[in-house]
Amino acid sequence: MASLGQIIFWSIISSIIVLAGAIALIIGFGISGTHSITVTTLTSAGNIGEDGILSCTFEPDIKLSDIVIQWLKEGVTGLVHEFKEGKDDLSDQNEMFRGRTAVFADQVRVGNASLRLKNVRLTDAGTYKCYVLTANGKGNAGLEYKTGAFSIPEMDVDYNASSESFRCEAPRWFPQPTVVWTSQADLRANFSQVSNTSFELNSENVTMKVVSILYNVTINNTYSCMIENDLAKATGDIKVTGGFLHSFCMGLLG
Ligand SMILES: *[C@@H]1O[C@H](CO)[C@@H](O)[C@H](O)[C@H]1NC(C)=O
Ligand SMILES: *[C@@H]1O[C@H](CO)[C@@H](O)[C@H](O)[C@H]1NC(C)=O
Ligand SMILES: *[C@@H]1O[C@H](CO)[C@@H](O)[C@H](O)[C@H]1NC(C)=O
Ligand SMILES: *[C@@H]1O[C@H](CO)[C@@H](O)[C@H](O)[C@H]1NC(C)=O
Ligand SMILES: *[C@@H]1O[C@H](CO)[C@@H](O)[C@H](O)[C@H]1NC(C)=O
Ligand SMILES: *[C@@H]1O[C@H](CO)[C@@H](O)[C@H](O)[C@H]1NC(C)=O
Ligand SMILES: *[C@@H]1O[C@H](CO)[C@@H](O)[C@H](O)[C@H]1NC(C)=O
Repeated sequence: MASLGQIIFWSIISSIIVLAGAIALIIGFGISGTHSITVTTLTSAGNIGEDGILSCTFEPDIKLSDIVIQWLKEGVTGLVHEFKEGKDDLSDQNEMFRGRTAVFADQVRVGNASLRLKNVRLTDAGTYKCYVLTANGKGNAGLEYKTGAFSIPEMDVDYNASSESFRCEAPRWFPQPTVVWTSQADLRANFSQVSNTSFELNSENVTMKVVSILYNVTINNTYSCMIENDLAKATGDIKVTGGFLHSFCMGLLG
């Protein structure tokens, strides 16, 4: 037999549950009342001087003429880009983006609202918002865009050094990366005492050339030079077998 106390307790619990359900329902109706659609962004990094993509997708809608895409950047007046009625509308575009933006017009129909940004600048870094309106509703998503420089290293024997040495050189990095050498023969080996890394500012005074020399290498062993900053990571591998040089590059960028 349940005591009166238990009955009151359970009835309070069940009324809380019913109330919660009702509130959830009201909120649910509220949201569907404003017709929200799912918009998804993907974070990526921009390489200064190259073209970048700010990735954004949404629930597709066959009626292209009803789709409005707006790209906004925090702290920037006007728009980064606007696409509506099947074409670009750049009447309210901020001048820092003039001539540098495009959506993939043929991909909009399938839910691709990604923005192509030409000639990425360091100052393009920031918080962007991808806003999409379709006949089904509207939605938006933010994305943090980082900018810098990264490049794949070239590996070679350093013919200038007195001992058998390898050279890892990458033309453009920013911010200053770390360079770590590893050996396939001994994955835990620490080469910080037998390598020397230098950074040389390029003529545009932002990006730097990275050169790292690894001294006293042994034959038949594969060495990797890994360059990394908070935007990207790139690796180059090199091996010498009795006079034959094998260098192969692997890049893992962005
Ligand atoms: C959008 O389309 C462009 C061009 O085809 C493509 O490069 C990009 O990966 C697409 N983005 C998504 C998220 O599908
Ligand atoms: C080779 O070493 C000499 C002496 O240290 C130096 O002056 C020269 O610049 C080096 N050359 C290269 C290509 O690193
Ligand atoms: C390698 O050794 C140096 C000091 O000689 C140290 O600062 C560094 O953290 C070590 N690196 C690794 C990956 O253990
Ligand atoms: C390379 O090896 C030689 C001979 O073992 C040694 O004298 C030299 O100090 C080594 N160089 C470095 C950078 O460790
Ligand atoms: C590293 O390179 C710099 C400049 O080329 C040179 O001054 C320094 O002595 C080198 N350090 C080592 C440990 O070889
Ligand atoms: C780079 O900096 C140097 C020295 O600070 C200066 O003389 C040069 O004009 C700068 N170059 C550019 C492209 O800003
Ligand atoms: C390197 O490998 C080749 C072929 O696998 C072998 O003939 C040679 O003796 C090796 N050299 C060293 C120094 O281990």
